[in-house]
Amino acid sequence: MKVKDKTVTLSVIKADIGGYVGHSSSHPEILALANERLAQAKKTKKLFDFHVTSCGDDLELIMTHDQGEDSKIIHKLAWDTFYAGTELAKKLKLYGAGQDMLSDAFSGNVKGMGPGVAEMEIIERKSEPIIVFMADKTAPGAWNFPLYKMFADPFNTIGLIIDPSMHDGFKFEIHDIKKDRNFTLSCPEEMYDLLALIGSSEDYIIKSIHKKDGTIAAVSSTQKLALIAGRYVGKDDPVCIVRGQSGLPAIGEILEPFTFPHLVSGWMRGSHYGPLMPCSQKTANPSRFDGPPRVIAYGFQVSNGMLVGPRDMFDDPSFDYARDWANNVAYFMRTHGPFEPHRLPSGEMEYTTLPEVLKRLKIK
Ligand code: F6R
Ligand code: MG
Ligand code: MG
Repeated sequence: MKVKDKTVTLSVIKADIGGYVGHSSSHPEILALANERLAQAKKTKKLFDFHVTSCGDDLELIMTHDQGEDSKIIHKLAWDTFYAGTELAKKLKLYGAGQDMLSDAFSGNVKGMGPGVAEMEIIERKSEPIIVFMADKTAPGAWNFPLYKMFADPFNTIGLIIDPSMHDGFKFEIHDIKKDRNFTLSCPEEMYDLLALIGSSEDYIIKSIHKKDGTIAAVSSTQKLALIAGRYVGKDDPVCIVRGQSGLPAIGEILEPFTFPHLVSGWMRGSHYGPLMPCSQKTANPSRFDGPPRVIAYGFQVSNGMLVGPRDMFDDPSFDYARDWANNVAYFMRTHGPFEPHRLPSGEMEYTTLPEVLKRLKIK
């Protein structure tokens, strides 16, 4: 760690390199391999610390280091780990082995090559609580609703009203992922403009959130696999890092939006709307109709670059009701079968396998 300024970079890099069984979960041998690889990197001081986990069929590498964001060294470490994992996945004939490895050769940064990335360089505070959210069977737009609630909605985050250090609000960086444009909107002043954009969560995605003094508060992965590959290769299954407390939303305010299992795109064949179910890591194995979509939340105290944790934050009975609600909504949505609005609208089906079927129809 750069002791002088206590600078540490958090990198969460993830990929689906093979499912066990089908797309439902991850094989323990893959996790063991990733653990071994990153332990080696910690030994050789490439990393301060790491934690390996999975959310459904996605392998999640949570790392701390002093190389900054977009570091070739760290991205190569992640890429090589996924590559070795893919070889093992192929040996075990796991399903969709190497699914998110869209290229054969590493070119310096995993962005645009398949894996999802969320990174933030921080100056470690006196105490540094963070939450890493990881989702399966959904797209990066899934974070828009909860991030808005955490950082802009006083009905969720009472701190926006009663904590003088939060009262000024936050700045949201929005990516228009289809047109490659960015916007920065300040809340509460530009709240309506913000909502005008992020309500379209397939197009506009919250990339990062800062305090007005420039302090980084949250960052998400915005990679859209289909846009990278030009065809359907599974959903993006995004990740997001949020810092908490002391002038930022409290941990309880960060988790609160997930008590409402809002509808997100993804689920079976990446082609359906379904409720985002908050669950513990060990129950994040989407089986029903390859879903419903899951989110897990790992809490850490970052201490001199070390990841003290994780605490599995949704492993708590206070989220039981949200899970029951999600199951109810899952039944309701499933009963529509192949009809909208359970199935995505046709515009969003562009990057699924449906166009292939429609092409054949034309020939007939
Ligand atoms: C969703 C997902 C799965 C698959 C489905 C069909 O993100 O990955 O729902 O789309 O299991 O998979 P294939 O076409 O490989 O049989
Ligand atoms: Mg998969
Ligand atoms: Mg997945």
